[in-house]
Amino acid sequence: MPEINVAFVCLGNICRSPMAEAVFADTVKKSGLQDVIGTDSFGTSAFHIGETPDRRSAATCKKHGVPVNHHAQQIFPHHFSKFDYILAMDRSNLRNLQSMAPKNSKAKIQLFGDYKGTTSFDRIVDDPYYGGDAGFETNFQQVSAFSKNLLDTIQENDI
Ligand code: 4NP
Repeated sequence: MPEINVAFVCLGNICRSPMAEAVFADTVKKSGLQDVIGTDSFGTSAFHIGETPDRRSAATCKKHGVPVNHHAQQIFPHHFSKFDYILAMDRSNLRNLQSMAPKNSKAKIQLFGDYKGTTSFDRIVDDPYYGGDAGFETNFQQVSAFSKNLLDTIQENDI
């Protein structure tokens, strides 16, 4: 198992968090740290368990040359002892994670957008499900910027 494990979490695990995981994994790979940092993604809901990413999310990743390969899964309390970072896309996901976390869990539970660094983007990765394609492009730009900030933080603090 990699030394540092990071989970990305949204509601359905078909739009935002598989994209966030794919972009962060791509960033990690480009830094040569793929054996040190492991990634996965989850939903807080059971709505889409087993499904592949929403076609709009997959198309946006593909357009930017980022491979995405995932089947939706739900997060459970036992995951809080496997992951070092469990990162929510929005405040509702964050609240759900905080109330589910077992006492003394090792995971740091935060908003993905909360890592320091220069980004002009809103820190909330909004739910794009009922909107148009533009929402997915905005999500992509956000998770790209946030991935760099997160990797900087992990390199500074954990490796
Ligand atoms: P995600 O988007 O949380 O980014 O995967 C959604 C996917 C499905 C639903 C809502 C948001 N839904 O209501 O089914």
